[in-house]
Amino acid sequence: MPTAQRSWSQCVQHTAQGFDTTPLQTLSGSIPTDLRGTLYRNGPARLERSGRQVGHWFDGDGAVLAVKFTDTGAAGTYKYVQTAGYQAEEKADRYLYSGYGSHGSESWLGRWKGLKNAANTSVLATTDKLLALWEGGMPHEMDLETLDTVGLNALDQLTSKTPFSAHPKVDPKTYEIFNFGVSFGPKTQLHLYRCNPQGTIVQTRAHDLKGATMLHDFALVGRYLIFCLPPLKLDLLPLAARIKTFSEALVWTPELGTEILVFDRNTLELVTRFTTEPWFQWHFGNGEERSDGTVCLELIRYEDFQTNQFVRDIPQGNAEPIVPSRLVHLQFQPTATNPLLCWETLWDRSCEFPTVNPHVVGKAWRYSYFSTHRPDAKPGELYEAFARLDRQSGQVTVSDCGPEQYISETLYAPGHNERHSQNDRGWLLSTVYNAPEQRSEVWIHDAASDLAEPICTIALPEVIPLGFHGTVHGVQRP
Ligand SMILES: [Fe+2]
Repeated sequence: MPTAQRSWSQCVQHTAQGFDTTPLQTLSGSIPTDLRGTLYRNGPARLERSGRQVGHWFDGDGAVLAVKFTDTGAAGTYKYVQTAGYQAEEKADRYLYSGYGSHGSESWLGRWKGLKNAANTSVLATTDKLLALWEGGMPHEMDLETLDTVGLNALDQLTSKTPFSAHPKVDPKTYEIFNFGVSFGPKTQLHLYRCNPQGTIVQTRAHDLKGATMLHDFALVGRYLIFCLPPLKLDLLPLAARIKTFSEALVWTPELGTEILVFDRNTLELVTRFTTEPWFQWHFGNGEERSDGTVCLELIRYEDFQTNQFVRDIPQGNAEPIVPSRLVHLQFQPTATNPLLCWETLWDRSCEFPTVNPHVVGKAWRYSYFSTHRPDAKPGELYEAFARLDRQSGQVTVSDCGPEQYISETLYAPGHNERHSQNDRGWLLSTVYNAPEQRSEVWIHDAASDLAEPICTIALPEVIPLGFHGTVHGVQRP
């Protein structure tokens, strides 16, 4: 069982209050003149209510941070997504609804009230709206400027049975948005979506899966949408009887192997599916289809599902031990009769949150970014460093944020005048919890530098609990 509280717990366990649009104080350096647009980030902002804690980090109520960079400086806004479940629980001042790893009520009878859309995982910004995403339900629409919640948005086609996951991919050339959702019932189905740049679904297709599993992310790779289904089985009876949560009912079954499904991005039809060795991933970094038809994927690989337990324990303020993960390159020929896999480890220190320049999503790219541990990280620590992989040279440059400087996912913001190139002349944006100062900050690094120091740090007026994913909106499009 976890014991001592880690320094990061002050941030993770902080119940956010939120704030209206506020000018932000620059702590060091200055905002680059060609960094414009808005950084949006989503994450669980409340993990406790009336003395009761959520059962899993994934079940905290979502709040969205916006940091807008203008000619007169940076301004920040931070607001809870006003979901129906959040509002009802605010009113009742207690948890009412179940989540991914939480029973809504301590009493067994109280567990039948239903599932809360936590709206806490990521955001998707279109020209006219911001969508707060959660993989078990519909997106919540928010105002791009004020972050006021408009309400659930079905994107013209979603229903209560067809969720819209939290890892959509935007094609950098056509601005089409691809995404998926998994529905459970007599059949487990994978729903594929193609949306126009405004976020309206224009094409859907449902495919039966072999069994109930969990799917968090996918990759847009050239002509394909690629899914790697981990060998998880859902223990249905205790889940149906509300004895176990969804998270608790997921059973690691390595003998099933990981199944790879390849779909045509234009027709959403299945191209091929095959089963191979078992592994688990939360996230893909990117993928490309080479001229000979070979598919290359970058992902963070785990050897089992222990990572779920690590993430579950985070609300308690400690999580031990660090679960090993590595950044890997995976290659295969989707049209071959026997599409043998070829693996290469690119970084073998525990890592997560892989990202790339949004201009290169789904196609050849040079630089990958990811969070990682400092070399001497103690068991139970979260990430205090991020890194850039140069895929041409294989060189990894680590940016050590320092002890007890806890970093969120690092996002690439193209320079305002940047055109697509392989040089990544833009900016890397992260939120960091400075534990000694008990302050949340926004750090800006020059993506083309040695990453030794941020060129600018900005204070946020309130501690922002470490979150999951975000996006940078309103920057130069390729
Ligand atoms: Fe994710």
